[in-house]
Amino acid sequence: MYPVPADFAAKAHVDAAKYQEMYAASVNDPEAFWGEHGKRLDWMQPYSKVKNTTFEYGKVDIKWYEDGVLNVAYNCIDRHLATRGDQTAIIFEPDSPDTPAQYITYNELSDKVNRMANVLLSQGVMRGDRVVIYLPMIPEAAYAMLACARIGAVHSIVFAGFSPDALANRINDSGAKVVITADTAPRGGRRTALKSNCDAALLHCSDKVRCLVVKHTGDQTTWVQGRDVDVKYLMEHASPDCPCRPMNAEDPLFVLYTSGSTGKPKGVVHSSGGYLVYASMTHQYTFDYHEGDVYWCTADVGWVTGHSYIVYGPLANGGTTLMFEGVPTYPDAGRFWAVCEKHKVNQFYTAPTAIRSLMGQGKDFVTKYDLSSIKVLGSVGEPINPEAWNWYNEVVGKGKCPIVDTWWQTETGGHMLTPLPGATALKPGSATTPFFGVQPVLLDSTTGKEIDETAAEGVLAIKDSWPGQMRTVYGDHERFMQTYFSDFKGYYFTGDGCRRDKDGYYWITGRVDDVINVSGHRMGTAEVESALVAHAKVAEAAVVGYPHDLKGQGIYCYVTLMNDVEPTDALRKELEVWVRTEIGPIAKPDLIQWAPGLPKTRSGKIMRRILRKIAENDFGSLGDISTLADPSVVDELIENRMNRG
Ligand code: PRX
Repeated sequence: MYPVPADFAAKAHVDAAKYQEMYAASVNDPEAFWGEHGKRLDWMQPYSKVKNTTFEYGKVDIKWYEDGVLNVAYNCIDRHLATRGDQTAIIFEPDSPDTPAQYITYNELSDKVNRMANVLLSQGVMRGDRVVIYLPMIPEAAYAMLACARIGAVHSIVFAGFSPDALANRINDSGAKVVITADTAPRGGRRTALKSNCDAALLHCSDKVRCLVVKHTGDQTTWVQGRDVDVKYLMEHASPDCPCRPMNAEDPLFVLYTSGSTGKPKGVVHSSGGYLVYASMTHQYTFDYHEGDVYWCTADVGWVTGHSYIVYGPLANGGTTLMFEGVPTYPDAGRFWAVCEKHKVNQFYTAPTAIRSLMGQGKDFVTKYDLSSIKVLGSVGEPINPEAWNWYNEVVGKGKCPIVDTWWQTETGGHMLTPLPGATALKPGSATTPFFGVQPVLLDSTTGKEIDETAAEGVLAIKDSWPGQMRTVYGDHERFMQTYFSDFKGYYFTGDGCRRDKDGYYWITGRVDDVINVSGHRMGTAEVESALVAHAKVAEAAVVGYPHDLKGQGIYCYVTLMNDVEPTDALRKELEVWVRTEIGPIAKPDLIQWAPGLPKTRSGKIMRRILRKIAENDFGSLGDISTLADPSVVDELIENRMNRG
């Protein structure tokens, strides 16, 4: 246990006693609690109803502040102008340390967002229309998000590391009118050709889709007359005034595609009012953010962490948020710490996978920088192993910065289980206790019953709604109910396994479904499988995760080839490249095992449990294999397993 430093607690928004009091109030009377905290936003028309939610399967319906009217961009920009127009809203740190940083004030942010909003209107984007954003980590990504919010359009960001195919699927599923991209994206000294990826994607989309191009590097790209539009040029000529559209609290703010255990990625829909209340409140309390602090989240805006904790949370709070275009290891493994020193970062939020990879490079990259400005360290995306936690605590935090290990999901909009730095004693590897209004429960996976004992293990579910919860799957409410509310009736099911210790602390043990977490990136094994079987030489494929020192989990593929195909190392390489191009570099297989047969039940269902065990190199406890159609395939798979570490 690491107790809260007394001097930290004294200055924090919330200490232990206040946490207890606020938490009790939040679950005893959610109506009153969230009614009060909803006032942290500026409403054009105040809400009279706070909570109207049901988790009942077949009728799932989630509404918060349902008759309130507001505008998200107004809350993130306009309301700050009178008091902090000249304060820096966004610090932009470019890929190369030799390129000067940009300090964008709230006044400048307002100017850019208004202009970008007018550009969108000039392209025919109307309230409710979807806009796909396929941009690198540059200020224009934030401008584009806020410009959509300003005019009531719904953005859907596609991570710039995704392939043209993945981009096309998302443009088509969301029915976007416009896609915003950049010419090329510098990262780690190399350049990704975003515009040409976009060109390739648009071959598979309606020819009505407009392509708005941010000329970021000035690199040459192809140009389709009548379809491609130079955003910066139009922004220069657009009016700097664009009125904020009054939006209902429940109008969608964005759709973000995320992987599930089956089928294609689903569009997670988030609301305007409840989402912003929750993102801004968690940002303030979890990081103990105070006026004037410089806050840095190293995520990409392509993931939910970037939405809630680079853009919406910090800006709604009138904060200074840092956007970093580069990677942790360029020009060397000291870059994170160089940036922290340069901009005197007060709160630093990153993923365990980054910590693990930097740990391996030695302490000197950290200790040569002055990190005394840092007050709070954060972790997100996957369980943090104690070794990485200790290094983060000692080498980066010098033992004086609380580490907030935040557990949450694309679906939850904001932090669900997390320490509050002035209130919660820490245990390395535990996301500790729930945020206000969150009622976690452990369920017995077979009976579906709540486990009452404090010290217990089960699947993690949430008992009642919170304002940041996703509202639906885009265009498929049935799938929303099926995915999250059908297995355990009356609860939101997270898909995670979890242990609760005798102190009531929660420890996430990992996914219990066919979702894997690779370097903090969430991936459906089904997506990788369908990419593999799309290759002409592949007959069948099964994909599972296995423990990986740096990535948390690696991607292990069992591949059955077509009859006449020779399994060679060259083919293995070919399949790796194939998956990379089908989905994106983050989906590149780590290990491919040739599998003449897969373990199947007599009805033809692949027994993934067995494949997982073999991939984990833990084949001593395979359990009952007598129900297999051909148990001998198992010996063959064990014999030729790829992970022997
Ligand atoms: O398994 C949990 C893991 O990441 C999943 C959610 O992934 P995604 O929707 O991509 O959101 C990632 C950023 C919020 C969860 O179901 N996860 C996330 N944070 C943690 C975590 N596992 C353990 N500890 C965490 N702090």
